[in-house]
Amino acid sequence: HVVVIAVDGPSGSGKSSVSKAVAARLRLAYLDTGAMYRAATLWCVGRGTDLADGPAVAHAVRVMPLDMGLDPAAPTVHLDGRDVAEAIRTTEVSTAVSAVATNLDVRAELRRRQRAIIEAEAAAGGFSDGRGIVAEGRDITTVVAPDADTRVLLTASEAARLRRRSLEVHGAADDSAVEATRDQVLRRDRDDATVSQFQVAADGVVTVDSSDLDFEQTVDAVLAVVGQ
Ligand code: CDP
Repeated sequence: HVVVIAVDGPSGSGKSSVSKAVAARLRLAYLDTGAMYRAATLWCVGRGTDLADGPAVAHAVRVMPLDMGLDPAAPTVHLDGRDVAEAIRTTEVSTAVSAVATNLDVRAELRRRQRAIIEAEAAAGGFSDGRGIVAEGRDITTVVAPDADTRVLLTASEAARLRRRSLEVHGAADDSAVEATRDQVLRRDRDDATVSQFQVAADGVVTVDSSDLDFEQTVDAVLAVVGQ
């Protein structure tokens, strides 16, 4: 049976690590759509494209040679043949990504590519041998794959999200580390909310609140939704 699982959530909700674990557990492919927006941002910056020039950014993204590797145990991102898995996680990219992700022509292009990847996995099976895919992002449950078999919105309190993101970025979650993360995370949430509705579950989307769950509990909660 082919299965498509869509997971959305804000920064620090744990959606990437949880989605990867769910995909690995169910032996499905895994698609990180946020990595595609990050790669698009890196691509524009590398070409010297003015991020304030909407049409130029849209053009750059249309010709972007991006290859996403879908193995949840080792997902890869190749831009023009180069492994950019680390380069897309820099503060520079995190700060600039919303400017690219709020460009509606960019969203149309990346959505088209995301749907093609999901359809290819669902139809023939690349990595996953035809069993399906877990796709995660901000607009997967609502726009990219509204017909997915399972749709989950992963949320967490602001405090929990800031703590997790701070641990990821600074390796610590003391007051000053959390403070250093706060502005960036909250500003990105605000910018992203202007184009994707990921803070409240849409009709038919199941909310999993991970504020008081550890990683394994969150994975189990999502698996329970899939099993319904
Ligand atoms: O770092 P974090 O997990 O919060 O975000 P991400 O999943 O790596 O996504 C990075 C950025 O890509 C987000 O802040 C959004 O601006 C954009 N994005 C989007 O607009 N739509 C998606 N489906 C996924 C990501």
